Amino acid sequence: MPEEVRAIPLRARRSGPLNGRVRPPGDKSISHRSLMLGALAVGETTVEGLLEGEDVLSTAAAMRAFGATVTRADNGWWSVKGLGVGGLLEPEHVIDYGNAGTGVRLAMGIAGSHALAATFTGDASLVGRPMGRVFDPLRRMGVQVLSRSGDRLPATLRGSDMPLPIEYRLPVASAQVKSAVLLAGLNVPGTTTIIEPVPTRDHTERMLTAFGAQIEIATGEDGARIIRLEGRANLKPQKIVVPGDPSSAAFPIVAALIVEGSDVTVENVLMNPTRFGLVETLIEMGADIRIENRRSIGGEDVGDVRVKGGRLKGMVVPPARAPSMIDEYPVLAVAAAFAEGDTKFEGIGELRVKESDRIASVVAGLAANGVTVEEGPESIIVHGAAKVPGGGTVATHLDHRIAMSFLVLGLASDEPITIDDAAPIATSFPEFRAMMAGLGAQFEEPKLG
Ligand code: S3P
Repeated sequence: MPEEVRAIPLRARRSGPLNGRVRPPGDKSISHRSLMLGALAVGETTVEGLLEGEDVLSTAAAMRAFGATVTRADNGWWSVKGLGVGGLLEPEHVIDYGNAGTGVRLAMGIAGSHALAATFTGDASLVGRPMGRVFDPLRRMGVQVLSRSGDRLPATLRGSDMPLPIEYRLPVASAQVKSAVLLAGLNVPGTTTIIEPVPTRDHTERMLTAFGAQIEIATGEDGARIIRLEGRANLKPQKIVVPGDPSSAAFPIVAALIVEGSDVTVENVLMNPTRFGLVETLIEMGADIRIENRRSIGGEDVGDVRVKGGRLKGMVVPPARAPSMIDEYPVLAVAAAFAEGDTKFEGIGELRVKESDRIASVVAGLAANGVTVEEGPESIIVHGAAKVPGGGTVATHLDHRIAMSFLVLGLASDEPITIDDAAPIATSFPEFRAMMAGLGAQFEEPKLG
């Protein structure tokens, strides 16, 4: 949906203590799923607190293309009038999903078990990302996939009118793959089974339960999660409240930690255990973080995260924790740059296939700003120091989290840090700049030439 936008360079400079209270935007994963399950329920689903970032707006457009009515009311609530499982219509145009990997992978799952043809594409980042991980199980369910490049977009999916239930053991720890298969399974006769050796974010399972799908979760003998979903489901519309995104909260949290004297409270943050690995890790590194006002919203735990600036200690981040903080490694690397000693991230090969190759982007960005860093095929070692020289320019490669991470680094480095393009930030956190500036962060648009 979004057109290619002009690059907008942005610079962050060393800022005074950050102070205040902020509320991050709605969780991106839950926002995508709200619109999708709303489209698959018969009747009207309302969504309060939807993330209005480009990625989620691409899902709104995609659901409209499949025939759902998706609108925003003046009070900021969204409404989705769905057509029911099996009721989606064939899109009349190519669905351009912009930068949104989660959106397109889940939407391909939905399209796959409807008897229609749909063509998906995306921006320069998305067309470079692997889609075989979704095409493979969908093919086993009877979907015909036509992609000139094999496992990349653009691709046309032709769903079968006799889709097959499958049992699928996830070959990669990916909530996107799990969710694509479950969403496809909604319109398949019989039981679709996912075996998940390493648990990943569970929003799809939680939300399917809330919408009235028959879904059972058990633990196998080897400890794997086994998810069984009965197909030809009849989903009931819901009133959804989207909690704040922990992956967006990560930026003010780390900024407050590395800017001396800061005291920041990030309110209304989703604390689902499959998403909270960053805060757990920062606390183990010695961060002064307290969770206040813990409560439950729409079946999810949320809390206010209060952070004070202070020195961290390096550590080895356990690979088993990766799925619960997979999007937070870039900003954790920024925190690690100021830690005492080395911080080692292992088992993070999946970072190579995110919006950019995040191992390469993080290593290049840190090195350009005077941080000593080592790159392995599936690991990063950051050698922390009391000071970060800064002064470098960082290539963001259409990656919102790389852009925000290095702006955060620039708030505490000796010299300012420039990113080549802040435009991708709008995919997940359009209010980032204003929100951070409200806490005392200093940004400026560099003069070109
Ligand atoms: C997401 C899952 C993660 C994550 C992405 C959102 C989701 O991807 O990186 O930003 O909403 O399911 P993988 O599950 O492929 O690791």
